[in-house]
Amino acid sequence: MNGFYHIITYGCQMNVHDSEKIAGMLSELGYESTDVIEDADIIVFNTCCIRENAENHAYGNIGMLKKLKANKKDLIIAVGGCMPQQIGKADILHKKFPYVDIIFGTHNLGNLKTLIAEKKNGKKTVVEVLTGDGEVCEGDNPLRTSYPNAWVNIMYGCDNFCSYCIVPYVRGRERSRLPENILSEATRLIKDGYREITLLGQNVNSYGKGIEGASFPELLENIASVDGKFRLRFMTSHPKDFSEEFVKVIANNKKICNNVHLPVQSGSDRILKAMNRRYTSKQYLEKVEILKKYIPDCAITTDLIVGFPGETDEDFKATLSLVKEVGYSSAFTFVYSPRQGTKAAEMADQIPEEVSKARIMELVELVNSQTRSQSVKYVGKTCEILCEGYDDKKEMFLGRDEYGRMGYFKCDKNPVGEFVNIKITEANGVSLYGELLK
Ligand code: SAH
Ligand code: SF4
Ligand code: F3S
Repeated sequence: MNGFYHIITYGCQMNVHDSEKIAGMLSELGYESTDVIEDADIIVFNTCCIRENAENHAYGNIGMLKKLKANKKDLIIAVGGCMPQQIGKADILHKKFPYVDIIFGTHNLGNLKTLIAEKKNGKKTVVEVLTGDGEVCEGDNPLRTSYPNAWVNIMYGCDNFCSYCIVPYVRGRERSRLPENILSEATRLIKDGYREITLLGQNVNSYGKGIEGASFPELLENIASVDGKFRLRFMTSHPKDFSEEFVKVIANNKKICNNVHLPVQSGSDRILKAMNRRYTSKQYLEKVEILKKYIPDCAITTDLIVGFPGETDEDFKATLSLVKEVGYSSAFTFVYSPRQGTKAAEMADQIPEEVSKARIMELVELVNSQTRSQSVKYVGKTCEILCEGYDDKKEMFLGRDEYGRMGYFKCDKNPVGEFVNIKITEANGVSLYGELLK
């Protein structure tokens, strides 16, 4: 044992899984995990830069470590992930936080052990951020922390260049892992007792580009045919690459959850065009119709942005009306945040904060009322929950149903990792409360 590590993760599931890979590397170096930051000998920030507030959180928390570092000279602080991968950001971080020991990007995550060794060999600050597209990482040894779920990367990067989005700049070009490697990873995980596999990619529907014969529907089908009781999820789907064939595969395979996250971003065609989303609201709604036709009970969720440059009241109303028409089970709502280097950041007519704030409040209210009215219909019904853990505050076990709703229940033994049936007695937003059925 070499000491303790503590990892702080911001951002999406991709980052959550990257942190599991970082944990795997640290444990190979002889470190053990601690929840108490003051006890750590190495602290890693795995950062996100999707919106300004994500960066501000990281800045605040890295800033708070100055004192800890002053009192504990051997402490190693590393800052990695999407934030330093932005052009010029590593320098800014280095100047702002001279006590940070290691700065690395998304493309050289796999080098972390070497960077730590350089630091331990006496280098003052180790800064390594690689440009280029990044590699397809295979053979990682992640230390998984989200049992009974296991995250599995199927692809890295993004080629879509939505005009507001920083991801293509910090994650590189889209590149898919080989289907046989994904299948063998998933098979091993299921054998090891994982009960839910979530496939990760920025745009899973375009999986397989450049690999002969590979496609996302086929990959889904192959993983769903692995023996054993488990659930298969994936994220994120891009509407432009979303096909009827893919919907049929979900409909025909019980193990694939009837829950599709299909980010729309806006309901206005003018704004969708300016966002470079490459579909119209009509085309989006047609895809939703296909989903509903084959999977009538499908829980559809989405991402929405308000306050994109040039968004008028009319545009915003089009978003509200699309949200009403689809009837999402839930949605993530964001105020547009200009990201340096993206096309949208240069666009005229940036929307004043108070306008965006008013719009997001109205949107959140609409989304929440839809979620509530759908949840209430669950009361009296039986749901199959995959138990994920225990909520200390509520003193109840929790887990999700196939549709992604969180269910809470009491149980006198530990059912984590098991599928249980609960009878819903109460619904509160996306959360359901129920009694365990024996
Ligand atoms: N690859 C996924 C989403 C990745 S980012 C997809 O294309 O659907 C997750 C969400 O963050 C996006 O769907 C978008 O709604 C939001 N987002 C991205 N950039 C943003 C920005 N600059 N300001 C506000 N929200 C943003
Ligand atoms: Fe960003 Fe668009 Fe790529 Fe999603 S598809 S990661 S929103 S550029
Ligand atoms: Fe953030 Fe990077 Fe994910 S910018 S949303 S952590 S890909």
